[in-house]
Amino acid sequence: MKLFLDTANIDEIREGAELGIVTGVTTNPSLAAKEGIGGRDGYRSAVQEIADIIDGPISVEVVSPDAEGMIAEGRDIAEWIPNPWVKIPSTTEGFKAISVLARDGIQINQTLCFSVNQAILGAQAGSTVVSPFVGRLDDIGQEGMDLVEDIVAIYRQYQIPTMVMAASIRHVLHCTQAAKAGADISTVPYPVLKQMVHHPLTDAGLARFLQDWEKAGGA
Ligand code: E4P
Repeated sequence: MKLFLDTANIDEIREGAELGIVTGVTTNPSLAAKEGIGGRDGYRSAVQEIADIIDGPISVEVVSPDAEGMIAEGRDIAEWIPNPWVKIPSTTEGFKAISVLARDGIQINQTLCFSVNQAILGAQAGSTVVSPFVGRLDDIGQEGMDLVEDIVAIYRQYQIPTMVMAASIRHVLHCTQAAKAGADISTVPYPVLKQMVHHPLTDAGLARFLQDWEKAGGA
């Protein structure tokens, strides 16, 4: 399972890239707004800065409500950076836009996926990757990870090439569960990525090794 960072914060992306394990980034209008990134030009500059740091796919979301607008935005976004994944919502207009953009050869991240049926429709339309939102389903009392498991199982059963990206990840257990469920990618907020590194027994074990080394004479 690959790890992407779910953020528009440049410092977090730099730090994640230094770890050498982040292979992509997902952004959305809320994450951009959180960083004070506004307007199309502002979003484009921020995305170009991200693409200078990370080689892998950068997901950039459209904001038009209708297919025509999404298609125009998607074609524009496709020119911004070398490796864009255009984020299109799982709506009727979204599926229309996905099928047109996919035929153009544009990579699509089908976002805001909350059901198996939406994932089946997206795969037919030509989504490169589908993003089930785990945490937001948990928030309303549904087991969000079940959706990831079900989509992975169905895509495998029919050899559907669309990838599955666990999104709306809230904690480290989600990452473990997404990997067990067979997700191709998990997109994680930076604090979750940092937490994935830590285990108290690693810290205690390392302190003990260094202590024993010093006792034995050190370097
Ligand atoms: C995914 O691409 C989305 O940006 C993201 O995972 C949304 O998660 P949230 O529910 O934490 O906003």
